[in-house]
Amino acid sequence: MTTVLVLNGPNLQRLGTREPDIYGSETLDDVREALVAAAPDGVRIDLRQTDDEATLIGWLHEAADTGSAVILNPAAFTHYSYAVRDAAAIVVGAEVPVIEVHISNPQAREEFRHTSVLSGVVTGTIAGLGTNGYLLALAHLTRPPA
Ligand code: DQA
Repeated sequence: MTTVLVLNGPNLQRLGTREPDIYGSETLDDVREALVAAAPDGVRIDLRQTDDEATLIGWLHEAADTGSAVILNPAAFTHYSYAVRDAAAIVVGAEVPVIEVHISNPQAREEFRHTSVLSGVVTGTIAGLGTNGYLLALAHLTRPPA
């Protein structure tokens, strides 16, 4: 059994009621259910959320140690957390993929959201496609070998 860690940063537990015009009406439980339904046989989805930077960093260290691929929505940490960036770099350095996902398109929003301090170290980024971004990231991570 392979595990895909789906790690979510601050305020994402409010998905569904938080600024639905920007983030839509699906909850994080809906996202979990959709990922579990889409996961190929043998792939376990482990979706987590935290408002705490240290906890998120610990989970990234766990991914580096266990080799679990990561779908990461760092939320506001995206824009300023060099510590989360360094932790993501440790995971990618261990040859474990990290896909950065944003539900909204930060480039089309306030200027402070235009910078991602993570994008330079992650495997790839998906933004602006709603919660479907998580499913697209899973499809990439679980694609059959070329
Ligand atoms: C977000 C975009 C971030 O700018 C914001 O702070 C979030 C969510 C997104 O999924 O669109 O909390 O990462």
